[in-house]
Amino acid sequence: MIDFEHQRIRSRIEARLLANGDRRGSEVTRFKADAIGALDGTVLEIGAGTGVNLRWYRPGATVIAIEPNPIMREHLAATNASLEHPVELEIRDRRGEQLDLADGAADAAVSTLVLCGVDDPVAVLEEVRRVVRPGGRLVFVEHVAAPIGSRTARAQRLVRRPHHWMFNGCRVDQDTETLLRSFEWTDLDLRHVDLGRAGAYVRHQIIGTATR
Ligand SMILES: C[S@@+](CC[C@H](N)C(=O)[O-])C[C@H]1O[C@@H](n2cnc3c(N)ncnc32)[C@H](O)[C@@H]1O
Repeated sequence: MIDFEHQRIRSRIEARLLANGDRRGSEVTRFKADAIGALDGTVLEIGAGTGVNLRWYRPGATVIAIEPNPIMREHLAATNASLEHPVELEIRDRRGEQLDLADGAADAAVSTLVLCGVDDPVAVLEEVRRVVRPGGRLVFVEHVAAPIGSRTARAQRLVRRPHHWMFNGCRVDQDTETLLRSFEWTDLDLRHVDLGRAGAYVRHQIIGTATR
């Protein structure tokens, strides 16, 4: 398990990259604006990072942000305060594998670029399914393993270990699509996006919603 207290320098670098991560007008950014903007009620955001998604919530939305990294938590409140329409934000120092929320307590969940880096992605998805009410949605964006035999797959093999070290345990070539499909959802709307060269070795991403 990553001890975030001892990863401060790397976390500060990662936070800076994440805070500038949303490319204006890109397919992923448009998807997040639409999908997150459509959520009502109490939304659980797993691994909220620096708060790049806060701007996409409806004005006045209630967001419970789960974030175990203290460097990321420093950014969250500041990001929210800088917004024209801040959300009702509650920041919790926890991990997604063990949520302190009752069954069905959330109307929806958001997880962007998180399942690749949590210790136990199966446990996190089980928890999401437990705390999101029936009919509620999980909005997800994840980078995934490149197609077998591609140049990007070779690049991912090369960078796998340094990337894991630099980015707090992130598994650059995780097959998160198979993971998501292994759960029973009422509906799973998943599509593939290729960010092209700008996305470097994390150019292959999956975006979509999973309905509980
Ligand atoms: C790559 S960042 C993505 C942040 C943000 N969602 C975004 O899209 O910019 C992954 C985030 O997940 C958090 N994280 C790591 N392990 C976690 C866990 N077990 N449960 C919840 N969040 C976790 C990290 O601290 C980090 O903020």
